Amino acid sequence: MEIIIQPDAEAATEVATTIVARLLREKPDAVLGLATGSTPLLLYRALVRMKLDWRKVKTFNLDEYVGLPPAHEQSYHHFMWENLFRHVNISRKNIHLPDGMSRNIPKFCAEYEALICAAGGIDLQVLGIGTDGHIGFNEPTSSLASRTRIKTLTRQTHEDNGRFFGSADKVPHHVITMGLGSIMEARLCLLLAFGLKKARAIAATVEGPVASINPASILQMHPDVRICLDRAAASKLKRADYYHRVYDNKPDWQQYQN
Ligand code: F6R
Repeated sequence: MEIIIQPDAEAATEVATTIVARLLREKPDAVLGLATGSTPLLLYRALVRMKLDWRKVKTFNLDEYVGLPPAHEQSYHHFMWENLFRHVNISRKNIHLPDGMSRNIPKFCAEYEALICAAGGIDLQVLGIGTDGHIGFNEPTSSLASRTRIKTLTRQTHEDNGRFFGSADKVPHHVITMGLGSIMEARLCLLLAFGLKKARAIAATVEGPVASINPASILQMHPDVRICLDRAAASKLKRADYYHRVYDNKPDWQQYQN
């Protein structure tokens, strides 16, 4: 795990943007796994500003609410179109999101996994983290080997996401999410977290035991994870000095510059 601690969300996002932009330049037909929520907004804005070539890029989103049609303001379809897709030259046929309106969810999930596989797997998976340690919507006690499937949100996530819906009781109970096993197959995982509310989950992810009670901790088993944090999200890490030391002494060829 590479832990990148920056003074604020803008600086942490700048590093993440460099990582994504470099991939898109080196591999114009890259396959991206994408997250929604407040965390990746700055990243998507920065990528839009860079006017990269998205014509051959394929995307797979992590999750979607069950029962929300794509046009619903709080659907992740809507989020992605508003915040990224309509601003770049991506081809519509290359965009994939879980279908929250599917009438046969198990079949849909199996097909989604098959599509990822047919695309050659995910090159880079963008991740945020829930205050309860979820990635995608793999809530605590999710199987560490799970695949794309339906999940029930925890009360904590319901409350956290109530801010988008006006109140927690309007947040759907069910979601379709890529599993932890699916996420772990991405060649590179890029996790972003900002703010004090994420500090506990980040400390447990980086320095706690690997355990399904903190789903993101499975990333300790992944060979290439980069975690971009602001100071607040990093504030409960016991070994922050070491992470700074690693970052400050990187050899030239490992540095993140555009
Ligand atoms: C959403 C997703 C979730 C969010 C997490 C944090 O696609 O994968 O894991 O990343 O709930 O949400 P924010 O960024 O809103 O704090």
